[in-house]
Amino acid sequence: MANIVIVGTQWGDEGKGKIVDLLSEFSDFVVRFQGGNNAGHTIVVNGEQFISHLVPSGILQKNICLIGNGVVVDPEVLVQELDNLGKKGIDVGSDTLKISEKAHIIMPYHKQIDLAREKKKGDKKIGTTGRGIGPCYEDKACRRGIRFVDLIDFEGFTEKIKTILEEKNFYLKNYLSSETVDPESIIGPYKKYAERLAPHVVNISIVMNQAIKANKQILFEGAQGTHLDIDHGTYPYVTSSNTISGNACCGAGIGPKEITGVVGIVKAYTTRVGEGPFPTELFDEIGDAIQVKGAEFGATTGRKRRCGWLDSVLLRNSARLNGLTGLAITKLDVLGGLESLKICNAYEYNGEVIHDFPASIKILGACKPVLETLPGWSEDITGVRKIEDLPQNAKNYLKRIEELTETPINIVSVGPGRDETIIVNNPFTL
Ligand code: GDP
Ligand code: IMO
Ligand code: MG
Repeated sequence: MANIVIVGTQWGDEGKGKIVDLLSEFSDFVVRFQGGNNAGHTIVVNGEQFISHLVPSGILQKNICLIGNGVVVDPEVLVQELDNLGKKGIDVGSDTLKISEKAHIIMPYHKQIDLAREKKKGDKKIGTTGRGIGPCYEDKACRRGIRFVDLIDFEGFTEKIKTILEEKNFYLKNYLSSETVDPESIIGPYKKYAERLAPHVVNISIVMNQAIKANKQILFEGAQGTHLDIDHGTYPYVTSSNTISGNACCGAGIGPKEITGVVGIVKAYTTRVGEGPFPTELFDEIGDAIQVKGAEFGATTGRKRRCGWLDSVLLRNSARLNGLTGLAITKLDVLGGLESLKICNAYEYNGEVIHDFPASIKILGACKPVLETLPGWSEDITGVRKIEDLPQNAKNYLKRIEELTETPINIVSVGPGRDETIIVNNPFTL
């Protein structure tokens, strides 16, 4: 029996969706435990692309898909996703897709506050996805959030909305100089979402623990990345949830001893969307070439992703914070054709070499990467399915990642398709 957590090790978009889809062939359940539709997880099967924001990426492999209590759910987006999957003939009935009764709900005022705040901040903005994620988690922490259990009790919901809007509208109008929200504009649509989603709403902790007792295998699908974690990331340029593996337990309602492995997804270079420090960022033609070849555009907002060299300071931080037992390296194919490759193995700050990830973004912003150079390869590796068939320089690059992170590589991805993958060691059968 294996229960594996998948987390991003960098700043998101490492290819978690592809690896979760791939590994869900070996699992029975896939559960999202944090984040919301700020996530954009891409799966490509037989040339067809699926982008999921809320529905766990195990849906195509017929896993039971769970949305945990730690997720914030925009019901409008979830209903759209269910409709789209249904149209493709994919089962998204209430036996297949279950939502925690304790998951918090993103309301129209959360989105409005998110967007208006970013506008007001001007060049000091965070570069959020504008999906209302931060304001929804704020309300959860402030104990005035609305959960699925509250939505389903529709009379109570209507009362709550009216009270909450008194405060929200005051803030929207007087501080953010934004439009206010009419309660009636929420009540109508949310009644429809409540009716539509009610059959899916259950106690996920009970479902998970029954699955564990029945020796089922579970995949925990992380969203965002370790350096967007609210505690451990590049605060304040982070998202509003804990993205690291420890939160899989809290966000799904299971105990820590049930987790048997943690696989960190590592893009073979680094990308970041939105604002915030990024020591290995490239501002030259190599960065542009990686951005183009890697098709580095956000799956949620369509924004161009900033690109840079692989940063092992970041990866070692991730290995420690998540307790990584293995790595999945993605997009190795994108680096083909570059004469030489660089890996950052320390930072230089004020003439001093530092090996740990600084907590201060002022310091991080002033850090210069200490780079080592490795020779590149020119071969197209998208057809390679065995590690020994990779060009020697690609093998050397992978070996160096293992050395620098002190973590073994389980999987290497050489293209977006499910089959464009080299499985070195399957974490479910280790
Ligand atoms: P996620 O948010 O971590 O699930 O990642 P995204 O889906 O946002 O971004 C990863 C992008 O890279 C998607 O477009 C994937 O289809 C694509 N991708 C994943 N693995 C590979 C790979 O090995 N090679 C290439 N070329 N593309 C990949
Ligand atoms: P996946 O799961 C990349 C970034 C945003 C912004 C910051 C805060 O696809 O890897 P938020 O809307 O969460 O308040 O934005 O976090 N961000 C992501 N970047 N991938 C993601 O998800 C992200 N989710 C949020 O760009 O910088
Ligand atoms: Mg993404």
